[in-house]
Amino acid sequence: MENTRDSAIDKERISGRRVLLGVSGGIAAYKACELARGLVKEGVLVDVVMTENAARFVSPVTFSSLTGREVHTAMFAGDGALPRYRHLDLARETELAVIAPATANVLGKLANGVADDLLSTTVLALKCPLIICPAMNTRMWTNPVVERNVRELKGFGYHFVDPAEGELACGEVGAGRLAPVDDILFRTLELLSQSQDLDGFNILITAGATREALDPVRFISNPATGKMGFALAEAARLRGAKVALISGPTSLVPPTGVRFHRVTTAVEMMEAVERSYGDCHIFVSAAAVSDFTPVRKSEDKIKKAGSELQVELKSTPDILHLVSERKGRRIHVGFALETRDLERNAQGKLEEKDLDLIVANDPNVEGAGFAVDTNVVTMIDRGGTVERYPKLAKRTLAYLIIDRVVDIIKERIKEARSPLKPHEIIEGADDTKPADDK
Ligand SMILES: Cc1cc2nc3c(=O)[nH]c(=O)nc-3n(C[C@H](O)[C@H](O)[C@H](O)COP(=O)(O)O)c2cc1C
Repeated sequence: MENTRDSAIDKERISGRRVLLGVSGGIAAYKACELARGLVKEGVLVDVVMTENAARFVSPVTFSSLTGREVHTAMFAGDGALPRYRHLDLARETELAVIAPATANVLGKLANGVADDLLSTTVLALKCPLIICPAMNTRMWTNPVVERNVRELKGFGYHFVDPAEGELACGEVGAGRLAPVDDILFRTLELLSQSQDLDGFNILITAGATREALDPVRFISNPATGKMGFALAEAARLRGAKVALISGPTSLVPPTGVRFHRVTTAVEMMEAVERSYGDCHIFVSAAAVSDFTPVRKSEDKIKKAGSELQVELKSTPDILHLVSERKGRRIHVGFALETRDLERNAQGKLEEKDLDLIVANDPNVEGAGFAVDTNVVTMIDRGGTVERYPKLAKRTLAYLIIDRVVDIIKERIKEARSPLKPHEIIEGADDTKPADDK
């Protein structure tokens, strides 16, 4: 696990960066000391902003001793002192903010734009990413008002490290305890180490399996869960892209800040792709779309009669093929699942579907394929470069695939020698269809 985590973090990008650590008044405030310590150890400059109530749980002196920096608690300087625009100074200087723990009160304030102390006012002025780590008693965490606030904040694109389940400080057991400090630390370092090299780019990703109904209760599908596509959506979002994710049925929660469309059938997926394709610069087809669908769907449940059932099937639309006609200068990434002649077949698909990069895997290899958290892939690009990877977590692989996309963008920019902005060089030349902004 540790290796997987490390590979998503570029340590050189972390040292000397400015992180604002917001601490609010929950019992888990003492765990924020560990977080501050962990960040300082990585060379991060940590500016702690505490609410008045947080300072009842942990002394600001603890944080200033751990960080070696001033701890901020008050909005206003003392009577008669020159005013300090501390909230604006902090907001300007901060590269990433984390609130841990975030009380129910802080969630309510942030969701409603309330700015009545230094922490809430500073957060309102931030332009950098913010990670919110709530912690509270289960009764509070499951209160519909708190749930609504969390939903709204996630909808605004804030990152969350959701609370864990377990024994709470008040003695009750349930969901609401602060997520493990290691998880929060990892997420913070991961976000901090991401360069925003996809800023200005729109990426469209398909994920999961489609379902083709035989009757109201049966369907043809495959075991894809959407893990790879969801990991790609998260990696692209962390690097500054605007992400639209279209997925077949799945229990996965879409990453924050991603425009999400849920579909069921191959035709629905094709229609959703066609609607969103107009404004994308990069299209990643990670969905395992069913190749066949029943010619007829029975209105009623098919009765068990006799020992055989004949089902007539027809082909579903080939989404990659359809959009390749509108490709222009876009970058297309496809996946190939092959059980024999992996590289030869993948190369063939790359050419046939006019792809820029293909990620091929054989589901029969241990640790590869459907419904597992890992994969073993080979990536082939248009120039014929073949890269074979060992077994890797799908999340790690997602970063590597996005790295390859960024390489392709860089090559194009170099070739173009154009004064245009990077995303203008990549965008589709021949596409006038309006974007779907739902
Ligand atoms: C002993 C104690 C523990 C508390 N723990 C939490 C907590 O874990 N989460 C929470 O949301 N509120 C907790 N509260 C309530 C908050 O302190 C209270 O809502 C306060 O107004 C929060 O202020 P702040 O958000 O400005 O820091 C606790 C209160 C007490 C007295």
